Amino acid sequence: MSPFLVTRTLPEDATEAALRADVLHGLTRTPKTLPPKWFYDAHGSELFDQITELDEYYPTRAEREILVARAGEIAAVTGARTLVELGSGSSEKTRYLLDALSELETYVPVDVSESALRLAGEALIAERPRLGVHALIADFTGGLALPGTPGPRLVAFLGGTIGNLLPAERATFLSSVRSLLSPGDALLLGTDLVKAESVLVPAYDDAAGVTAAFNKNVLTVVNRELGADFEPDAFEHVALWDSDNEWIEMRLRSLAEQTVKIPALDLAVDFAVGEELRTEVSAKFRKEGVGEELSAAGLEPVRWWTDRAGRFALSLSVAH
Ligand code: SAH
Ligand code: AVI
Repeated sequence: MSPFLVTRTLPEDATEAALRADVLHGLTRTPKTLPPKWFYDAHGSELFDQITELDEYYPTRAEREILVARAGEIAAVTGARTLVELGSGSSEKTRYLLDALSELETYVPVDVSESALRLAGEALIAERPRLGVHALIADFTGGLALPGTPGPRLVAFLGGTIGNLLPAERATFLSSVRSLLSPGDALLLGTDLVKAESVLVPAYDDAAGVTAAFNKNVLTVVNRELGADFEPDAFEHVALWDSDNEWIEMRLRSLAEQTVKIPALDLAVDFAVGEELRTEVSAKFRKEGVGEELSAAGLEPVRWWTDRAGRFALSLSVAH
């Protein structure tokens, strides 16, 4: 039986301190914001998995199509013995890489969601008894310390999650990923591409309301962790395309004039009718921009693949 090791680099009290700091900062500024990483408690992770199966939400299917077609080439180019995956979630699409990487010894899924890591890790070791799985509960934006597993290393960041970082955060993040890589290691990056607003907006505002529930779940997290009294039904889900920034923005719009109490912060937050709280950006990319961001971080793009419909891209970059 292979080892399944879970390491926590985010002590629970540090997680709560980070949430307190983010909520205090985000809800006392104008416009109000909250960072998207707080969507992903056990329920939020489950809702995200439901999103990936919606007709309107094409990114997961498009990225899977690319992985099915290209996993063999990714394995041949990288020869990876360790696969590190940032924001691994259910690790569902990762299985195409795990199947193709014939030299692979260790898989290191990294996520803030302990429930997602445990569910995925337990399923993987049952399926693949010879694979070592070393799960890391960690924030990928916060100076990762990876286990000392053998190289070459392939770091995968799938799903388009890089688009949930703001441009300045992406630059810092990509430089920190670069610093994890040694010569011969590689980064596999999933990026959703700019496309028609008529396709993008429904992907973030589905008819069944799953994305709305996912968006409002952040309020439930703040209620549970900080004793707040957000009433999720007093907010409506908003998804809009910002064509200047080329990103989708998810917001929660207050349906009434209301005051929310957050006892753990000794804070009362006023919302005007119609006031919006930004909960996520999901940037959409173009090939040239992705290349520029990778190069600026010291990574050399060597492959670029899209699905047949040109909706989503996977790029492979190497470190020298
Ligand atoms: N890679 C999967 C899941 C994408 S959902 C896929 O392609 O389907 C985004 C994942 O990133 C979630 O599992 C979430 O818990 C995780 N995540 C979000 N912000 C994070 C952060 N700052 N650090 C670590 N994990 C994060
Ligand atoms: C995880 N991330 C890439 C998703 C996205 O598409 O930006 C999160 C999400 N938000 C709403 N739906 C899905």
